[in-house]
Amino acid sequence: MVSASVPQICDSFEHEALELFRDPQSGLTGAIAIHSTALGPAMGGLRLRSYPSIEEAAIDALRLARAMTYKNAAAGLALGGGKAVVIDDGRWDEHRLERWDAFAQRLNRLEGRYITAEDVGTGPADMDRLARGTRWVAGRSELGGGRGDPSSATAHTVFTAIRTAIAFRLAHLHPADVRVGVLGAGHVGGRLVDLLLDAGMSVDVADVNEAATERWAGHPRVARVGTEGFIARELDVLAPCAMGELVCVADVPHLRCAIVAGAANNPLVDELTAVALDERGILYVPDFLANCGGIIHVGGEALGTSDLETHRLIDAAEHRLQRVLRRAREEDRVPVAIAREEVETMLRGHRSRGAAPLSALAPA
Ligand SMILES: NC(=O)c1ccc[n+]([C@@H]2O[C@H](COP(=O)([O-])OP(=O)(O)OC[C@H]3O[C@@H](n4cnc5c(N)ncnc54)[C@H](O)[C@@H]3O)[C@@H](O)[C@H]2O)c1
Repeated sequence: MVSASVPQICDSFEHEALELFRDPQSGLTGAIAIHSTALGPAMGGLRLRSYPSIEEAAIDALRLARAMTYKNAAAGLALGGGKAVVIDDGRWDEHRLERWDAFAQRLNRLEGRYITAEDVGTGPADMDRLARGTRWVAGRSELGGGRGDPSSATAHTVFTAIRTAIAFRLAHLHPADVRVGVLGAGHVGGRLVDLLLDAGMSVDVADVNEAATERWAGHPRVARVGTEGFIARELDVLAPCAMGELVCVADVPHLRCAIVAGAANNPLVDELTAVALDERGILYVPDFLANCGGIIHVGGEALGTSDLETHRLIDAAEHRLQRVLRRAREEDRVPVAIAREEVETMLRGHRSRGAAPLSALAPA
């Protein structure tokens, strides 16, 4: 259900541009949202998903593009925030290549103001195909000249974020006594389960696709459970690793965890939910601090950053979160408010130094 209109979102979050497109030949339909180019070209993944309408696809792109501005800035990347979504109409198997070729032309028309990469529903092979028609793409396979799938890097920063949050909130617990609930065992969630198990923790895991959790069948520290009621399970950490907008204010009284930290972008419906979690004593780790490993990995490919610098930025993510959590405790504030404030200060500094945002892009 659409809770706010496209113009309302564009206005309240001050997006620079939104382009809706439909290619009549291939049937490619979707949206590209550019939230900010204050720090550099907007970058964010390309999501292929079924949406009830182009309006809902546009709203998803707008929300995710804004999240990318915060994620890229907080990660120390010279990149702004953008996102593309294309609608899964059930005919991608027939038209995949021609649709990517049409999308590459869309990207070319933006002349580098938006750089794409993989997201839910797309992968390095899709990026390789796009790269035949445009240079504004990263996340290509290693064979295709890129750095490959960013999911391991994302799982790594999500894991270190969980470890940091545990040190802050549950320092008395030995890893063997920690139970983490991972909802969504896909590219990131699956790797996260393995990292948690390697660290000696126990895991409850659920996925709408039961086959995704089969590989842990019989593991003594893994409980494979259903998705129904998952967020209300008794856990130390709830790690949302499927889609966003999982927890709303009305859910908060039902949660039985101490920490929410995962890979999903925008896992809370709104910031009021973060406040409600805080009032219940549940620590919410800002998504854009936890899941930044992937964009550091593919952003580095786009910017030509060395492997050494990429590793430095990935390590810095853990220190940044420690600092934000310390400030939150000292100032008795919600961590996400502090993390957002830090990024907004950074963006204002760039605007006032004259890196003016680009004017709105002309619609297609
Ligand atoms: N891949 C990355 O590097 C990366 C980076 C940053 C953020 N993220 C975010 O992390 C999340 C997971 O990304 P991914 O690459 O692992 O995606 P994925 O598509 O590989 O995995 C998602 C998994 O969630 C499952 N799922 C879907 N809806 C569900 C539901 N309602 N309940 C339970 N399971 C459900 C799917 O079956 C799938 O196994 C997404 O929100 C994505 O935007 C991913």
